[in-house]
Amino acid sequence: MHLLIPAAGSGRRMGSQRNKLLLTLLGKPLLSWTLAAAEASRHISWIGIMGQPEDFPAFKAILSDLSLVMPVKLIKGGATRQESVYNGLQALPPSADRVLIHDGARCLATPELFDRSAEALLTCPGLIVAVPVKDTIKVVDERRIVQDTPDRRNLWAAQTPQGFEVKLLKQCHQEGRQKSWEVTDDAALFEKCGLPVQIVEGEETNLKVTTPVDLALAEFILRQRTVTVDS
Ligand code: CTP
Ligand code: MG
Repeated sequence: MHLLIPAAGSGRRMGSQRNKLLLTLLGKPLLSWTLAAAEASRHISWIGIMGQPEDFPAFKAILSDLSLVMPVKLIKGGATRQESVYNGLQALPPSADRVLIHDGARCLATPELFDRSAEALLTCPGLIVAVPVKDTIKVVDERRIVQDTPDRRNLWAAQTPQGFEVKLLKQCHQEGRQKSWEVTDDAALFEKCGLPVQIVEGEETNLKVTTPVDLALAEFILRQRTVTVDS
């Protein structure tokens, strides 16, 4: 299975001077944790990382520290996540018929989650990992007046990995570019094209490191895991 990792963001909400994926968690760069989990999955055999060229030296240093056994390709990212994934899709080897896409910022995803996603992707054209929403969600207008309270039983929080048939996802991205759709995940393009997206049970700890609080939480969770393994 081929895996694309969008890693070309700037981490604006983190408020750091550089790409947040280069910040350290328990002494290792965030991206290093993401790659280690992907490497430990039984199904991943090729990894493409989309990054900004200025970060490539740092990415190469991470890769040489990890000495992964599978081929890894560095791909130039774009101005948005959507563009980065588009570039990644063009850089896939022609043999790739299904692809998992996993945000570099979700550095707590487990190898089992990659495995579960890869196995499910053999049975459907598109999927996302997601968890049931715990909060009550409000739809709010521009005056900050609540307009609606959707039934929580129908609400799931989308995570990554997300997985797709390559040919179909490429078509969806193409259509999205033609019609100037702006979306925050690949499943949204699939949905807009009328294609089915299957839910795969995600992990509550699979958070996207976005703000400094997430960094502290991620460190706490990783520390717990290390303690569990050691004891
Ligand atoms: N990403 C990307 N290309 C972009 C923007 C984002 O590949 N032009 C990647 C990020 O590196 C991250 C994932 O998409 O792994 C999810 O994006 P997000 O969490 O929003 O990261 P940033 O865009 O870096 O953060 P912010 O939005 O706070 O600037
Ligand atoms: Mg972003």
